[in-house]
Amino acid sequence: MRQSWFVSFEGIDGAGKSTHIEGLAAWFKGKGHAVTLTREPGGTPLAEKFRDLALHESMDALTEALVMFAARREHLMQVIEPALARGDVVLCDRFTDATFAYQGGGRGFDWEVLQSLERMVQHVPASVLRQPDLTLWFDLPPEVAAQRLTTARVPDKFESQPQSFFREVRSAYARRMAEMPKRFAQIDANQSRDAVWHDVLIAVQRAYQA
Ligand code: TYD
Repeated sequence: MRQSWFVSFEGIDGAGKSTHIEGLAAWFKGKGHAVTLTREPGGTPLAEKFRDLALHESMDALTEALVMFAARREHLMQVIEPALARGDVVLCDRFTDATFAYQGGGRGFDWEVLQSLERMVQHVPASVLRQPDLTLWFDLPPEVAAQRLTTARVPDKFESQPQSFFREVRSAYARRMAEMPKRFAQIDANQSRDAVWHDVLIAVQRAYQA
């Protein structure tokens, strides 16, 4: 049985990744794996404080990127790295691709500055640059996501952005995938929940056996 594995879940708000994260946690547990289920920004008490700031306070784009990466460093050192060292499957609701998508794409912040922050923050002793082994990108047209979000709870700072913002976020996810195609699986999220789950399992099994 393969030991530690790091899977991130990405997509614009309303893409419907949450139920599949839970499903995949149960699926891995059923196969006898220890699973760490976590999220970004957040995942530790301190990083959750950063999350609260990032999602509810307005700030300039560099500050926002730094808050995301500060939360990430804390989360990586306190939760992700220890879990991978134990041999867990780590399922993380969003990781660095979200910073490239939202701060880089949505906010239009400098891609190269984000890349240098990424190198600094994700440099960990066990690896040159920590990245997910697999990133499931739940891809959905922003207009479909917007319809889904109208019935959701009170929107946070990002969820209340216009569709034009999410078009940029989506393009930035595509750019990240083009830059690192090996770890990405693009899931068509504009299908029934069962069909999406089917595609998730195929992508996971394919990557897991590779
Ligand atoms: P999300 O993951 O969608 O959680 P929930 O299911 O509770 O809505 O919310 C996190 C928000 O933070 C989402 O709108 C994307 C945004 N975000 C960034 O802008 N940059 C980042 O680096 C990360 C991790 C998230």
